[in-house]
Amino acid sequence: MDMTVATSAAGNFRQTYGAEPTGLWAAPGRVNLIGEHTDYNDGFVLPFALPQHVVAAAAVADSPGWTVCSTFADDPVTFGESETGTEPGAVSGWAGYVAGIVWALREAGFDVPPARIAFASDVPVGAGVSSSAALESAALTALVDLGGLDLPVADRPALAQRAENRYVGAPTGIMDQSASIRCTEGRALFLDCRSYEVEQIPFDLAAAGLAILIINSNAPHQHVDGEYGARRRSCEEAARILGVPALRDVTPAELDAALGKLADEIMRRRVRHIVTENQRVLDTVELLRSGRIREIGPLMTASHASMRDDFEITVAQVDVAVEAALAAGAYGARMTGGGFGGCVLALIDADRADETSAAAERAYERRGFTAPTAWSATPGPGAARVS
Ligand code: GLA
Repeated sequence: MDMTVATSAAGNFRQTYGAEPTGLWAAPGRVNLIGEHTDYNDGFVLPFALPQHVVAAAAVADSPGWTVCSTFADDPVTFGESETGTEPGAVSGWAGYVAGIVWALREAGFDVPPARIAFASDVPVGAGVSSSAALESAALTALVDLGGLDLPVADRPALAQRAENRYVGAPTGIMDQSASIRCTEGRALFLDCRSYEVEQIPFDLAAAGLAILIINSNAPHQHVDGEYGARRRSCEEAARILGVPALRDVTPAELDAALGKLADEIMRRRVRHIVTENQRVLDTVELLRSGRIREIGPLMTASHASMRDDFEITVAQVDVAVEAALAAGAYGARMTGGGFGGCVLALIDADRADETSAAAERAYERRGFTAPTAWSATPGPGAARVS
């Protein structure tokens, strides 16, 4: 990881609190290789951790309550037991993600130590790479360690998701927190979002002469919350009509029969995306298990088409980035994350990164879009104490 973020968090701690932090905890952002909007349908996802992190410099405080500050906000925010008690949501803005973690820990019966935390981050915000899950995961990992709390790693994502769902009020699934907490270096995290079972899938791009280019569309994120919630409700309603616990329970072989039972055309498209996307994750995992990385390209591109045409969560900027990457020779390309902007992943030959990002830049220029930003990423480790 880039240690300047850690240095900046430690410096921020000293400057704000006039003391040394006990330690530094880092939690990464993520991209999802494939499996979009499948998590809240009890399905499958395959994210990997980015080299960008939120770093928490933290120490136990000698007076009650929690004070948090960050290099990405002006003033420190203090909250106590009343703001993290039975009523979620009392702290808003970025500090609400941290207060949500304290709330969720206390709700689960943990004795959370009073603490002072200073954050720094190089995870891009608003790019759909889970800067908020990284913030939650950094706070959670720091508080668990500082308090010596007995919370196994496998149980942490659900607690962080609860903070996001109940305290912050965003109806997201469990993928982002799982990625930030459970990913391992050099692997993609194959997660069953029903059982929370994981398999670390080898994803050694460099050995295969490949790279994943991440192209941030820099498209303004609009209507994200409302549209996300609408997709989720539509999927849950479809599962109810079909009489299954979740859309995960509809197999590709059963898809046509299921679609025949749904009167609403939009709902039919949503269901088709989820059912085919779950299968694409399983097919991708199968290929990666046998080291056939290049061959996942067409699955990525098919996933993008499904998000564009059936789930309807892409915007012109991401479609153009995908088309430009494919025209420049990418094996596959797709939007990653919740949608309505965010980043595109392109699977390319390692020596084609510059050409591919230049192709995306030219395509954006022709369309009059704000220029994209691109970088290559290999899978990094999940949340951990770094000093
Ligand atoms: C957002 C949510 C995740 C997941 C993705 C889409 O990142 O936080 O839970 O639903 O969108 O795959």
